[in-house]
Amino acid sequence: MPDTRHPLDPDDWGEFRALAHRVLDDMIAYLEDVRERPVWQPFPDAARQALEVGLSENGIGLEAAYEELQRNILPYAIGNVHPRFWGWVRGTGTPGGILAELITGTLNTSAWGGQQAAPYVEAQVLRWLATMLGYPESASGLLVSGCSMANLVALAVARDAMSGADATEDGLRALRRQPVLYGSTETHSSIEKAVGLLGMGRRSLRRIGVDADFRIDIAALERAIANDRAAGLQPIAVIGNAGTVNTGAVDDLAALALLCQRERLWLHVDGAFGALAALVPSLRPMVAGMEQADSLAFDLHKWLHIPYGVGCVFICDAPLHERPFHAAASYLEPLERGAAAGPHDFSRLGPELSRRFRALKVWMALRAHGTASFAEAIERNVAQARALAGRLRAASWAQVLAPVSLNVVCFRYVQPGLTDRELDQLNRRILIALQERGIAVPSATVIGGKFAIRVAIANHRSGEEDFDALLAGVEAIGKELAPIRA
Ligand SMILES: Cc1ncc(COP(=O)(O)O)c(C=O)c1O
Repeated sequence: MPDTRHPLDPDDWGEFRALAHRVLDDMIAYLEDVRERPVWQPFPDAARQALEVGLSENGIGLEAAYEELQRNILPYAIGNVHPRFWGWVRGTGTPGGILAELITGTLNTSAWGGQQAAPYVEAQVLRWLATMLGYPESASGLLVSGCSMANLVALAVARDAMSGADATEDGLRALRRQPVLYGSTETHSSIEKAVGLLGMGRRSLRRIGVDADFRIDIAALERAIANDRAAGLQPIAVIGNAGTVNTGAVDDLAALALLCQRERLWLHVDGAFGALAALVPSLRPMVAGMEQADSLAFDLHKWLHIPYGVGCVFICDAPLHERPFHAAASYLEPLERGAAAGPHDFSRLGPELSRRFRALKVWMALRAHGTASFAEAIERNVAQARALAGRLRAASWAQVLAPVSLNVVCFRYVQPGLTDRELDQLNRRILIALQERGIAVPSATVIGGKFAIRVAIANHRSGEEDFDALLAGVEAIGKELAPIRA
């Protein structure tokens, strides 16, 4: 027998198996005990220095590397698997996700196409997702790394479909008039980045004001479109929000769909987390109109708890999807049979050729749990947000800073006699203390010029006792840190 062993594979598979079992047991224990640990702790200098070792020629072996990882990496995650993590918008994940990631790593496939299961799994997952959200099943879809990428893909298609020139082939100089896009002041920064990256210029994204519920002001939007047309510019797209990052507000998507039809504009909906409200019958009316969007972007690693990072983009008019992304190459052409055969080529629908088999973990989660448990978790989070806002409104020391439509609660600690500036400083310190003491991880934002503690609940592990701990923590830290005024 020729000796074909290479040090990148184990000498002794039995030893590897033992280590792999240990790692799996440790990871299960990590999740099982998560509630017992602080939600977050600072990354200490000792761990940082331990990571800063030089590149080694020979390596220390898998077991030693794992031990270093246990010491210096594992304890210092941001904490979104914990029941009291409500920062930014982070999903909690599921234990089943560990298995899916293990299998994805084992298969180590690139999922763009060919005669293999991966593209068929992705096609099926996309059909399920469209059904889940009530989006047309004839739409073209793609799994991407997250909603930022989904927004970028959608706006690339919108640019080429609506600008009246072939910017992909001829470059931006082919656009005779400056394209203009519209979204509310609450629109996520990833949209701004996408518009810039696509060469349309960030300034061509008009930020339209919002009403008291942080929803786009439709009359102001209509005026802005008319003004731009009168100025010889070319309005091409409106971005509607299904769940704004700051407050979870949902624009009137049905009204935006009507407006876009009338004005012949592309409607893109950024539904990073809010799109998933469509899973819950009582919440579905909030996102009505989303199904009429020309494109829809949303995340699966947020409110669907699939391991990072996976988002999805749908383009309603399927043939338009390929325009910015397909580039013919003989070495990628399918053959009639064999490994290169097959009807799917996802590399034509986005910037990536080599791509992770993201669909596997989505397929596994939806097959294992169906949709009901995800819907239940979403509904519960919305109820928890409403209950939390109710308790804050009733507390003499708190002020809720924005209406609560979905799962986001923005508030601040207040003490009579302090100026807004002092309250900003105080709330900053309260938030940092909550995190540093390992009590809870909300994040921060600014609402109406006021610093806000922002609780975004996309967490199926949070229970009532966790919100009790948050409220008790904020009140106690507030009292401890607030300046005493006579
Ligand atoms: C409304 C909205 N859009 C887009 C994004 C970007 O998503 P991702 O972080 O998955 O790229 C986010 C992230 O929180 C978001 O809340």
